[in-house]
Amino acid sequence: MSKYIQAIRGMHDILPERIAIWHRLEDSARQVLSAYGYAEIRTPLVEVTELFKRSIGEVTDIVEKEMYSFEDRNGDSLSLRPEGTASCVRAAIEHGLLVQPRRLWYRGPMFRYERPQRGRYRQFHQIGVEAFGLTGPDIDLELILLTARLWRGLGLDGFRLEINSLGDAPERQIYRERLVAYLSRHADQLDADSQRRLASNPLRILDSKNPETQRIVADAPTLMDYLGEETRSHFEHICRNLDRAGVAYRINPRLVRGLDYYNRTVFEWITDDLGAQGTVCAGGRYDGLVEQLGGRSTPAVGFAMGLERLVELMALTGLHSEPGIDAYLVAVGESAQAAAPGIAERLRDGLPSLRLMSHCGGGSFKSQFKKADKSGARFALVLGDGELEREVIGVKDLREETEQRELRQEDLAAFLADHL
Ligand code: HAM
Repeated sequence: MSKYIQAIRGMHDILPERIAIWHRLEDSARQVLSAYGYAEIRTPLVEVTELFKRSIGEVTDIVEKEMYSFEDRNGDSLSLRPEGTASCVRAAIEHGLLVQPRRLWYRGPMFRYERPQRGRYRQFHQIGVEAFGLTGPDIDLELILLTARLWRGLGLDGFRLEINSLGDAPERQIYRERLVAYLSRHADQLDADSQRRLASNPLRILDSKNPETQRIVADAPTLMDYLGEETRSHFEHICRNLDRAGVAYRINPRLVRGLDYYNRTVFEWITDDLGAQGTVCAGGRYDGLVEQLGGRSTPAVGFAMGLERLVELMALTGLHSEPGIDAYLVAVGESAQAAAPGIAERLRDGLPSLRLMSHCGGGSFKSQFKKADKSGARFALVLGDGELEREVIGVKDLREETEQRELRQEDLAAFLADHL
């Protein structure tokens, strides 16, 4: 047996050196979402398994292979949530939130038993957004513009936006028949997974990664040709207004998404900087889901972004380094050590934004200075019994070659406010 217990494969600790980037991402998203009028909702990590089966679809990878499902002590089948849309819809129906249009967002861990690799984990985090009760294409557009604003704010450029329309159910049904007829003629050239999907979920064959299957798919009929007038004009409205807003996009007729609830608009933001797992944000319209889960028919559209992937990209830009602390209080001598906590507290009162670390554990000036330096602080604040008697404090800039200076204790907050 291994000497120490490790985290579960595909589930990661988020260490202090990365946390500043997480905060930056989460804070920016919260700020943008609230500026667009979205309200946060928090739902449990665990739901009845049936919820995900009914919403994501029985014949999807997520439900077939990736859910963490278990029986609780009552014998009920529960699952760790693999995504947030189903829970959000469940909660919105349960609490009667859908009597008027509602813009909601959520964040938190999701769980999928996938094969871990760079950018793909078994516990990962999403920020998701769901807008309910709005039929027109203007809300689909708003969601895309909102994400574009977030990327700009985070200094992330180079994402590619791909969009498609999956049509409404009757249109998709006709298309599905044509697609199956075409693919069946080439069934022996499809990969095993796609052959299986031919009967259960043929649209998913469109985004197969198998080169031979892709070759067959390249000549398959496209859904876009089966859209009715209303669906088409919904889609064209979005494209036209993305053009107007100067947001570049590519129509990808093979973009079908891995969850069954979508209709009409689907979109993904993709980067080339993360290897195979390049989709950083994905979503679309799902007008039938609320009713399917027992609510009143309510149009809906949303997306979710993968935070691990965005954090990794932000780390690559180098723009978001760990901010560290501002000052480290060094105290040597019995009276100085006794007075240090009070001085530190007064300083925190005077300058609440100051990131001040007080030395704990005693030791010589030399050893405390070493710790101050290692802490990454800009200034060491030095308190010996002599300074205490004169009611001053030594201030040493640890990052520049300057002499240590002395300041009156009451002037310290103002000095630090000026220099940080
Ligand atoms: P999804 O495409 O399954 O959609 O996931 C959205 C995003 O979550 C992905 O684009 C990716 O960035 C991230 N993600 C998914 N799986 C993993 C994983 N195993 N490891 C790391 N990141 C991952 C949904 O979840 C829908 N609920 C989105 C939505 C909301 N549609 C409408 N409303």
